[in-house]
Amino acid sequence: MDAGTLRKFEESLGRCLVDPDFLDIFYGNFLGSSPKVREKFAGTDFDRQKEMLRASFDTMLAAARDEENGPERWLGPLAERHGARQLRIGAELYDLWLDNLLKTVRACDPGWSEDVEQAWEAVMGVGIQYLCSRYNS
Ligand code: HEM
Repeated sequence: MDAGTLRKFEESLGRCLVDPDFLDIFYGNFLGSSPKVREKFAGTDFDRQKEMLRASFDTMLAAARDEENGPERWLGPLAERHGARQLRIGAELYDLWLDNLLKTVRACDPGWSEDVEQAWEAVMGVGIQYLCSRYNS
């Protein structure tokens, strides 16, 4: 992935995380989008979950940046956790995840632009594609 896209994503992520409500707004949007999402997160400790998600943005960035090794090196355990043997997160839920994330970035990033949105789509797309491809393995 080109350096400009990676940089746009990273800068936007930094601006979003300045907003102390960014992750709360994201989970509010995501949980509000479907009863299937709420079902999956029944019983989740959201303070922990928000920390895990915050850290996984860096891992998703590393996966998109590291074209030599590919996402496997970074996202193997996350793929197992979300796959058929554990959380059973199907592709349609990743569509909702991304839509709600993009909506949240648009609301929280004061430097938002179409280019910024495309950078999020591109960087998150690498990880999402990998997690979906590993659903059964
Ligand atoms: C690429 C997108 C996603 C990323 C980066 C991500 C990230 C994470 C991370 C870092 C964890 C914590 C794993 C651990 O405890 O070791 C997690 C757990 C979880 N994720 Fe995801 N996730 C994604 C997509 C989804 C989607 C689409 C759903 C659908 C509902 C989902 C549902 C869950 C659930 C239910 C848990 C377990 C929560 C608990 O421990 O109670 N995730 N996710």
